[in-house]
Amino acid sequence: MKQLKLTGFVIFFFFLTESLTLPTQPQDVDDVRITQKFIDDNIGYITIIAFAQYIQEASFEEVEMLVKAMTEYRDKCLADRTLPECSKLANEVLLENICAMEGLPQKYNFSHCCHKVDFERRLCFFHNKKADIGLLPPLPTLDPEEKCQTYKNNRESFLNNYVYEVSRRNPFVFAPTLLTVAARFEEMTKTCCEEQEKANCFQTKAEPFIYYLKALSSYQKNACRALMKFGRQILQSINIAILSQKFPKIGFKQLTSLLEDVSSKYDGCCEGDVVQCIRGRSKVMSHICSKQDSISSKIKDCCEKKIPERGECIIYSNKDDRPNDLSLREAKFIESDNVCEKRDADQANFMAEFLYEYSRRHPELSTPELLRIAKVYKDLLKECCNMENPPECYRHAENRFNETTEKSLKIVQRECEHFQNLGKDDLKYHYLINLTKLAPQLSTEELTFLGKEMVMALTTCCTLSEEFACVDNLVDLVLGELCGINENRNINPAVDHCCKTNFAFRRSCFESLEADKTYVPPSTSQGLFTFHADLCQAHNEELQRKKDRFLVNLVKLKPELAGEELWSLLADFTNVVEKCCKAQEPEACFKEEVFPALFSGIQLVFLVQKRKWNSPQDPASSLQRLPPSPSTLLQMAKFHPFLCLSNIPLCIHTTSSLSTHLLMDI
Ligand SMILES: *[C@@H]1O[C@H](CO)[C@@H](O)[C@H](O)[C@H]1NC(C)=O
Ligand SMILES: *[C@@H]1O[C@H](CO)[C@@H](O)[C@H](O)[C@H]1NC(C)=O
Ligand SMILES: *[C@@H]1O[C@H](CO)[C@@H](O)[C@H](O)[C@H]1NC(C)=O
Repeated sequence: MKQLKLTGFVIFFFFLTESLTLPTQPQDVDDVRITQKFIDDNIGYITIIAFAQYIQEASFEEVEMLVKAMTEYRDKCLADRTLPECSKLANEVLLENICAMEGLPQKYNFSHCCHKVDFERRLCFFHNKKADIGLLPPLPTLDPEEKCQTYKNNRESFLNNYVYEVSRRNPFVFAPTLLTVAARFEEMTKTCCEEQEKANCFQTKAEPFIYYLKALSSYQKNACRALMKFGRQILQSINIAILSQKFPKIGFKQLTSLLEDVSSKYDGCCEGDVVQCIRGRSKVMSHICSKQDSISSKIKDCCEKKIPERGECIIYSNKDDRPNDLSLREAKFIESDNVCEKRDADQANFMAEFLYEYSRRHPELSTPELLRIAKVYKDLLKECCNMENPPECYRHAENRFNETTEKSLKIVQRECEHFQNLGKDDLKYHYLINLTKLAPQLSTEELTFLGKEMVMALTTCCTLSEEFACVDNLVDLVLGELCGINENRNINPAVDHCCKTNFAFRRSCFESLEADKTYVPPSTSQGLFTFHADLCQAHNEELQRKKDRFLVNLVKLKPELAGEELWSLLADFTNVVEKCCKAQEPEACFKEEVFPALFSGIQLVFLVQKRKWNSPQDPASSLQRLPPSPSTLLQMAKFHPFLCLSNIPLCIHTTSSLSTHLLMDI
């Protein structure tokens, strides 16, 4: 019977059948079949995602051409699976088709990838992905009525276009995440187009899934970066920490077996192989659901769902409760006499088990903190096991762990105090200045994005009970974005050092960084500070964006200026805009009066010097405000600046706060 079913689906469900190690459990057979059908049905989206992520410059028309080719290919193979081309790997077929598109490799400069084969080719395409999407045109924003009309008239093309626009702007996000976003986008469109207040509806409904996209995007990039730059071991550790916190009940053996599936999922997803990624994720979720009795009590409802929703549900689910019989201290690694012998027998496994035991006991810690503890323990044993009396030495391990955590706690406390004192806007300017001084080589787009993300992290976390884990996780992800995933950046060597040296201690490394001393600023301002009357028409958000860019460009041009000088120039900028916009002829005011004098190199510094002489008072003192009241804090927590930056069609304000458990993927 089982055999029959299997044969049935192999014939029935089309070509993308690689890596189908035939499952033995009926439930698994079912899962494989459903996944297969899912891939089959979504070949259009899958093609769009892969193509738009690999060749971000490609036009929508070109993407549609490829979709047509891939759909034909699928149909051909559905009809006759014995055709030789139908036994190829899906991603291989896709890349072949991309390379075969006339004129395209030359047009978008990827011929060199097409000249390669197999792994080399995939790698080449992967390296073609650009994290900095500043070169893409801004997303066309449709009026809600227009949006609904387009959806009604041509649903498929409308949705395809959305997936295309989102994918090319998020080249590293895993396909299942993008598919979820697409599904929710359609749901939202359907609902909102029925309503009177369309714009309002789009705004409120878009927020949670855009948030979902951003959070997972950051997380996934960071994990892939860890895999690519630091190797399999570090990704393994990240996953141990996350899974053990989420599923404290799981046994170590079972965790190890689950990790194999998780690890192979990441291979496909990080490389950009969309089909393998979807399969890999389904397999992980199947694994979890088939063993759920011994894994978690919180996922029963999730496991009753079908495959694409199921994964998302599990990712969203809460951490399971700590088993009653789990003591707070794990004596085995601290008190036992033969710790060194056990370590020597199999160090990788020993360390993995330590991380597992520590993580499942400490749901309140962040992932990087758990990795730091593991490193501290490893170093301690290295030291202790060479001593005459090792147990006497590692008996104090817990002190070391606590010291490490306290250090990290202090950093977070300081950051949150900063947030409380400065408030959202000034905090952003602080980070824009700070980050630009650290890495002036990054594009203005990237720097403003990072600054906003930093503020976003603190705004979201600093009022939560899980403050520490939340801040530490999120800020670390922002640093991960700064480090980049895909490129050998020309960046401050000290930053590069922090990015490369130790994954777990990245944050403390960044703490001690100073401005880039090797950076040579451009010799002219290249019109960066030319402003026009259109500033007066700019809406609030647009004006804010211009102000941010102004500040970043100013630091890039004059990195030697001190913080308070920059602050006061920013205030000047604001005043000038205000003044000129009120003038009779704003354009003339911008052109003739203030800016040329203000920003021509030498005068700039002169001006600042003069101001210093004239006002004994520290300009920054105006920033030292009273701590915000609780209701102001609430207001702040509701604001999601970075969503606008992500180039997603809808800029929105959020009402919900982030839960840290969202920030993981498995
Ligand atoms: C095209 O790609 C190659 C290889 O990555 C690179 O060296 C070259 O500068 C690129 N040319 C253009 C015009 O971008
Ligand atoms: C370490 O910190 C934990 C939690 O704060 C505490 O329960 C434990 O007693 C501390 N251990 C030592 C050795 O200080
Ligand atoms: C960034 O800010 C931190 C904390 O406020 C400070 O210690 C550091 O020196 C600043 N870095 C730069 C490059 O300004």
